[in-house]
Amino acid sequence: MKFLLVAGARPNFMKIAPILDAFRPHLDLHQVILVHTGQHYDGRMSADFFRDLGIPEPDINLGVGSGSHAEQTAKVMVAFEKVCLEHRPDWVIVVGDVNSTLACAITAKKLGVRVAHIEAGLRSRDMSMPEEINRVCTDAVSDLLFTTDRLASENLRCEGVAKDSIRFVGNVMIDTLYAQLPRARALPLPDGCRPGEYVVMTLHRPSNVDSLATLAPLIGVISELANRLPVVFPIHPRTRRNIDEFGLRVDHPGLRLCEPLGYLSFLALVAQSRMVLTDSGGIQEETTVLGVPCLTMRSNTERPITCEAGTNVLVGIDPARIRAAFEDVLVGKAGKGVIPELWDGHAAERIIDELLTTKFSETHSLC
Ligand code: UD1
Repeated sequence: MKFLLVAGARPNFMKIAPILDAFRPHLDLHQVILVHTGQHYDGRMSADFFRDLGIPEPDINLGVGSGSHAEQTAKVMVAFEKVCLEHRPDWVIVVGDVNSTLACAITAKKLGVRVAHIEAGLRSRDMSMPEEINRVCTDAVSDLLFTTDRLASENLRCEGVAKDSIRFVGNVMIDTLYAQLPRARALPLPDGCRPGEYVVMTLHRPSNVDSLATLAPLIGVISELANRLPVVFPIHPRTRRNIDEFGLRVDHPGLRLCEPLGYLSFLALVAQSRMVLTDSGGIQEETTVLGVPCLTMRSNTERPITCEAGTNVLVGIDPARIRAAFEDVLVGKAGKGVIPELWDGHAAERIIDELLTTKFSETHSLC
């Protein structure tokens, strides 16, 4: 069979790496073509991850770049349709919830190509989040839906997805974390960071960083917390641009801004931190596995298992709440959590096994 494997943005890259590895023993019989949509294009947001994770150069790069949601999604669709028509795949595999995920899933489905979605069924129930729209729509057109936990499978069942199409396989991002942790732990920490004595922060969600009214108080409270423990803040290009545009001051001595980090440096930093403050989705899962307390600056999460089983606490964006949760961690009130079921480093093998053995009825492909 021929598979097109799609990746577009930073949080996709750690999810495709184990998929490519798990395909390797089967490449005598099957073909995998790696398509990078070019949604993320800066070296620090893309090429550094390919290098760190040993992902080969993409076979095809659509080079779509930035744009409004409609523009970016449409550009991926137009370019990806040509790729499907040329390569006539049996399957298109998409991961996660970024615009590239949705664009390629819809394009493939309309051409009658089967779609497999890895990390299906996650729901924040917040349709103001672009990723939630991407998740719901991608799942609606997918033929095989691979979930990271039982709650995600249940979400899909409630939306009417046939039980036969859902596979609870575990978490490919955690496959990558386990595979890379020894290399990450061997890296030195940045100057001035001692294990357990600093905080890591990431902040990039449009709802948090695109308006002065939300971004300014967040930067304010973080600067204040940086008096207690140094805060290392690898900064997403969107956030950097907005801080500059709004003229916000980020020169507090304890607040250490840096460029976005590669996968290994970031993992090394998180693994040895006292806690993480973030609005990312994936980091909630990584901290759960690492046993590092995570304060998520959002009012909801599509990954509730990280709160139920793991180390994650939703703190929203109210400075008083963030401050209180931060103090709780410092006085040792944070729970250690447990590692969720099947987050064992073998999700990708289970996925490939399912893809290569499941029997499907014929589709009427237009490719
Ligand atoms: C995207 C994903 C989000 C994910 C995030 C991780 C969607 C809807 N959002 O958001 O789920 O958490 O990636 O980073 O797909 N830019 C650069 N260089 C790059 C890429 C982007 O400078 O390589 C700048 C551009 O100004 C661009 C902005 O960042 O307009 C936002 O990029 P975009 O891909 O649209 O969304 P993200 O905020 O990165």
